[in-house]
Amino acid sequence: SESKLQLVHRHIRAFPDFPKKGILFRDICPILKDPAALTAVIDLFEEHVKKNHKRVDLIAGLDARGFLFGPLLAQRMGVGFVLIRKKGKLPGATVSVAYDLEYGKAEAEIQADAVSPGQKVLLIDDLLATGGTLYAACELMRQQQAEVLGCMVVIELKELNGIDRVKPHSVFSLVQY
Ligand code: PRP
Ligand code: HPA
Repeated sequence: SESKLQLVHRHIRAFPDFPKKGILFRDICPILKDPAALTAVIDLFEEHVKKNHKRVDLIAGLDARGFLFGPLLAQRMGVGFVLIRKKGKLPGATVSVAYDLEYGKAEAEIQADAVSPGQKVLLIDDLLATGGTLYAACELMRQQQAEVLGCMVVIELKELNGIDRVKPHSVFSLVQY
C-alpha cells in the first residue's frame, strides 16, 4: 500500500514562474485539502521528533505556512506553539531579525516573552529555500537564549543550499526537490 511519504509527495504541486519569472513554486495547498495527507505529514514529523529528541519544550512556527503544520504537531506532542511573524504583526514587546528571501526581503519577529532562556525549541515551516527565514528564526532563538533542537520542513529545495545557511542547526525534510 501507499506509504505516508508517497501520500505527502502526491499532494504537492509545482507552478512555474510564480511569484516571479524563473521561480518554480512548490504548492502545499493540496496537502491541507486532504485530511489523510495532512495526518501523514504530522505523523512523519512526530515519528522524527520521538526518534531524535528526548525533551521538547516548544514548537515555533514561521509566518505564514509554518502556522499550518506547527500547531497540529505541538498539540499532538502535548507542547506549546509560538509564532514567529513578519514584522509589525505582534503586540507588546518584541525582538526582530532582518533576512533575505528567494524573492524579496523580510523581517522576522517574536514576542519578547514567547520563549524563556534554556527552553528547547523545534522550528517548523512548510519549505526550506535559501534558508534565510529559518536562519533568522534561529538567530531570534539565540538572542532569546533558547536552544534550537532543529528545524523541520515539509519540502527542501536542495539546489538553493538552504541547509548550509542554517548550519550548525539541522533541517529535517519530508520531501526534497
Ligand atoms: C516562504 C516559505 C518559507 C520561506 C522559505 O515564505 O513558506 O517560509 O519562504 O524561503 P527561504 O528559505 O529562502 O527563507 P514567504 O516568505 O514567501 O511567506 P509566506 O509564508 O507568508 O507566504
Ligand atoms: N514554494 C513555496 N514557497 C517558497 C518557494 C516555493 O517554491 N520558494 C520560496 N518560498
